[in-house]
Amino acid sequence: ARQIRSRLLELQNKATRYMHELLLSHPDAEHARAYLKGRGYGKEMAEKWEVGWMPGNPRMFLNWAKDAGFSGRELCGTGMASQKDEGNPRAGLYVRFRDRLMFPIKNDYGDIIGFSGRQLVEDKKSGKYVNSPETALFKKSRVFFGLDKARRAIGREKFALITEGQIDVIACHEAGLENTIGTMGTATTPDHARMLKRYTESVVACFDSDSAGHKAIAKIFSECAALGLEVRVATLPEGQDPDSLIKSQGVEAFRALLDKASGFFDYQIDHAILTSDLSQPVKKANLARDLAVYLKKVAEPVTRDSLMAHCATRLGLGLPEFRETLNRTK
Ligand code: GTP
Ligand code: MN
Ligand code: MN
Ligand code: MN
Ligand code: MN
Repeated sequence: ARQIRSRLLELQNKATRYMHELLLSHPDAEHARAYLKGRGYGKEMAEKWEVGWMPGNPRMFLNWAKDAGFSGRELCGTGMASQKDEGNPRAGLYVRFRDRLMFPIKNDYGDIIGFSGRQLVEDKKSGKYVNSPETALFKKSRVFFGLDKARRAIGREKFALITEGQIDVIACHEAGLENTIGTMGTATTPDHARMLKRYTESVVACFDSDSAGHKAIAKIFSECAALGLEVRVATLPEGQDPDSLIKSQGVEAFRALLDKASGFFDYQIDHAILTSDLSQPVKKANLARDLAVYLKKVAEPVTRDSLMAHCATRLGLGLPEFRETLNRTK
């Protein structure tokens, strides 16, 4: 199995170099280069992150792989291709990524374990991003985009900045925030929290300010709190993400928002104030119950107690009443 693993890593390494060369110089990749430039990125960024271009014509990639000495089985092992028909090996291979900007995804040691490909020409029939499927190398429950480049800065800065998107991670690193990693839009798992815990005690989440981002933050909190990690939340203006904010308002504006990051419970309360009328007792009781669910996840008892007191004060609730809510919470 080790031998297979190293072959798959070799294939993904070579494919990364191949696609990177295509992006930099193939005549058919002009639109991919223009796309990057249009988003404010140049050759340096493409080199640092080993960004590539996967051709629209699958034969091109399959021919390359064959010439480079890789078998169809190995291609399928990386998830870059799959059998068109499982029952009939002669039916040929289906290539997963087509005409996409390709971001290699690495583990914390820098091995390329998979890819994320961004659509260059809008087409509703396939996703804006396509990622590698689960393979022997790629386990999405354990991946943070950029962790190999961010781990030292996370230790130095004493927190990890977590964003949703690959481009957000890249934008943050370019802006000097090298402690940034990305969830790639997937839900945080206990494994993710354990990985974070190896590098830091504290995370700041800066997600898109939409309902998907709001949900993702609650999940990050739940997994992190169980391990005693502190979670703060930086809130962006409606419709923005870190990349778009840095591009439109500059790094300093973004840093100012990070400096104002709230504790997770203040974030929840502020969000509730904006989205529901807390002067109604029912609404306030709902919020108290929601907060109680989150408080239960805080593993450390002293921290939990002071957060509980803080929430009660902000809601204008007596501590005994709030404690009772907590006791009734499963
Ligand atoms: P850009 O439009 O390139 O700036 O991407 P974004 O990162 O702003 O995308 P968005 O906020 O819509 O989604 C956040 C992250 O979720 C992306 O970076 C992807 O990792 C992931 N994601 C978004 N759309 C898709 C999709 O269609 N399929 C999959 N698998 N992941 C997606
Ligand atoms: Mn989306
Ligand atoms: Mn989004
Ligand atoms: Mn974006
Ligand atoms: Mn986004």
